[in-house]
Amino acid sequence: MAGFLPARARVVHCNSLPPVLVSGTEGVFLQATIPAGLDAKEAEIFCQLDPARLPKHIAIIMDGNGRWARKRHFPRVAGHRAGVTSVRYTVETASRIGIPSLTLYAFSEENWKRRPKTEVDFLMRLLSQYLKQEVPTLHKNNVRLQYIGRLHELPTFVQERMDWARRETSRNTGMILTLALNYSARSELVDAFQSMLHAAASNGGIEHLKIDEEAITRHLYTCHLPDPDLVIRTSGEMRLSNFLLWQLAYAEIYVTPTLWPEFRGVHLLEGIAEYQKRERRYGGLNEGHSSRALRS
Ligand code: FPP
Repeated sequence: MAGFLPARARVVHCNSLPPVLVSGTEGVFLQATIPAGLDAKEAEIFCQLDPARLPKHIAIIMDGNGRWARKRHFPRVAGHRAGVTSVRYTVETASRIGIPSLTLYAFSEENWKRRPKTEVDFLMRLLSQYLKQEVPTLHKNNVRLQYIGRLHELPTFVQERMDWARRETSRNTGMILTLALNYSARSELVDAFQSMLHAAASNGGIEHLKIDEEAITRHLYTCHLPDPDLVIRTSGEMRLSNFLLWQLAYAEIYVTPTLWPEFRGVHLLEGIAEYQKRERRYGGLNEGHSSRALRS
């Protein structure tokens, strides 16, 4: 087979995927179905994945920026700045491997209330800079930007930049990147119930109010997304921290000790590999159990 290969063709051996024969002007050659742009370590893990069972929506609780900075005797904000690089790598790898939706918990309502004003102000400026800098990378990766949270409480200059970045990427057709900003899952539920009441009141009166799971889902900030299949938390903490509490009902949870500023595409792929080892039962029985139950 090697004899058919043009000298400059790069063959990557991928055990779990059948190689594809491509005929081009330079003859017929082997091309492994590894997405372009993955580095060698990422490609190695990707090869072990089942591409048909990638999560459709991954949510990430980015944690550990402060600890990363403290370990290096840097100010906390240096950890947040380093965290932006991790956001870039994670977004690029997720979109390269074809994850349809990625949601990042960037800033909680509690962060806003419980952190020093100087840190909050820094995070706001960092977010604004990130949006300005990253739009070209988002375009390059065909990523569409969305936000969830009580966005109207954010500073006006940040809201304006957010609107601009959302508009700029609105025609992209690839991965939806949703940033959770000033977000709280409990506030989201309160807002959803109020939105349902409001909708009923302006549509024939509250006697027409119908509350079921579908109606609640339609009124959540995440109505544009399927529920996450996988939630990743960095820095080893075993908490959901008021993140997507309704939507994560059946999600697989993956906690890595890696601090967010050290998180890269390879860690994302490790999380997906772990996800694919899990058996999702949604409250039912596993395969072996259900067939045994039917026989007895
Ligand atoms: C948690 O680390 C992280 C945050 C509160 C902010 C997350 C922000 C970024 C990753 C950078 C900016 C993001 C975007 C999208 C521009 P922590 O400070 O709670 O860390 P600690 O628990 O170690 O103190």
